[in-house]
This record gives sequence, C-alpha cells and structure tokens, in this order.
Amino acid sequence: MVATENGVVERRREGVGRVRRGIEKKKCKKMKKRSSLQRLFVACRDVFKGLGTVPQPIDVTKLCHILDNMRPEDVGLSKDIPFFKAKRAAQGIPKVTCATVYKCEEFSLCIFFLPPRAVIPLHNHPGMTVFSKLLLGSMHIKSYDWVDPVGSDSSSPPSKLRLARLKADSVFTAPCNTSVLYPTSGGNIHAFTAITPCAVLDVLGPPYSKKDGRDCSYYKDSPYTPFSNGEARTRKEEDGEEEERYGWLEEVEMPEDSKMDWTEYLGPQIIDTSC
Ligand SMILES: [Fe+2]
Repeated sequence: MVATENGVVERRREGVGRVRRGIEKKKCKKMKKRSSLQRLFVACRDVFKGLGTVPQPIDVTKLCHILDNMRPEDVGLSKDIPFFKAKRAAQGIPKVTCATVYKCEEFSLCIFFLPPRAVIPLHNHPGMTVFSKLLLGSMHIKSYDWVDPVGSDSSSPPSKLRLARLKADSVFTAPCNTSVLYPTSGGNIHAFTAITPCAVLDVLGPPYSKKDGRDCSYYKDSPYTPFSNGEARTRKEEDGEEEERYGWLEEVEMPEDSKMDWTEYLGPQIIDTSC
C-alpha cells in the first residue's frame, strides 16, 4: 500500500511473489488423436479425386498402412459379439449383410458380414480400385484378371466365355494384410467364401455407379487346361516357377441367393470435415 498526495491509498501490483504461470498461452490445444477410421477417411479423400483415379503406388502404400493396422474395434466390432460366436444352422446358403460406413461420389467404405459358408460370388469392379481388409474370420478368396482387359474388337459380338488369369485362390485369416485390386490387375474379379464368421472392410474408389457405367457383373468360372494331355510343359514349369493358371469366365445373372441384406453402421462415426 502506498499513500499518494491526496491521501488515497493505492494498491500497487508489485508482482512480488507472483509467478505468472501460464503467461504463454499454449499455442494450440492438445490435439485429439485421430481415430484409424478418421485417418482412413482423410487419406481416401486425398487420394480419390474422382472418375479415372487409380491411386499412385505411394498412395496405395499410405492406404494399406492405415488399413493393415486397423482392428475390428476401430469400426465397433469385436470377436466377442454374438455374430462371431454363433454357429449358424446349416440350412441353405446364409446371407451376406453389408453396412455402409461412408459414401460419396469418389469413394465408399463398406463392411461386409459373412456367416460361415456365406458366399459373395464372382463379380467385377469395373474401373475401380478396391482395398479389402479382412478384420475378423477366415475366408477363401478366389480372384481373376482378364487376359485381354480391353476385350476383342468391339464390332464383333462378345464371346460367351472370356479367358481370365487366376490371381488368388487361397484362404486368408485375420489379422492379415490388405488386398488391393485395380481396374485391370490385382484380381479385379473376385469371390469370397466364408469359412468362419467374417467381417471385411472394403474401400471402393470410385464406388459402383450404374449411371457412370460401373455396374456390377457376375460370373461363373470353369477351368482352362491348356495342356490336358500333360505332354506340354511351359518354360515356367520347367524352371520350377509357379505356373500361371487360367479360367474361363462366363457372365451370368446375379445369383438369386447372393442378394445382400443391409444394416445400419453403428460403429465410430466419421467426421466429414475439410479441416
Ligand atoms: Fe468385390
């Protein structure tokens, strides 16, 4: 306290003993760590820029890295929920259920739920790149690419059977790395058959769109045996390399028992913001 000339007592802030803690404001609030799903969304938004986008290798690596590290919990799933514990009755072919996590013109995120023995039959992804991450379960995946992606002369009628090269024909069990298919490679035509209850997270860029010429076609495959008499062996076989395998694919109507059920996605939500 100090007495001034007019006798007013003035309280001065002398600052003694006062520590101005926090005088420097924190430059930014502690950033809340983005969830895996949110990071996947942001990466997809950066990578898929519309029609004709085929991700560059660096972008494929980025998306695969996020997906490879995703766990069922990241989309609200757990192997302890009844779906993944139930032993379904063995009557008929069980239905596949799909939940859309997010969808826009450029890409979509979907989860497919397959009870044991459920099948997503051979189907294509025209002009699309698809990342598939098996989150839970074991499934058999068979996939093909067209030997001649462009097709024969458009003036001639399409052949009923088209030759395709087998890309994958094996069982995948979660946790496993992400599979990627491209418009003309990587196994663009594929089929899933669940061995145990499965959940698969798919990133489709761009999504199916009938109006944009990206409708889904279904196929039936039959073996192609170039050297059925066993006499001719290819150089690859002779060199001990894995021989390429082929199949004839015939387009068919959508199999009646392959219609999916749709369910609401109830897992963590994506925040659709540009910041
Ligand atoms: Fe597919």
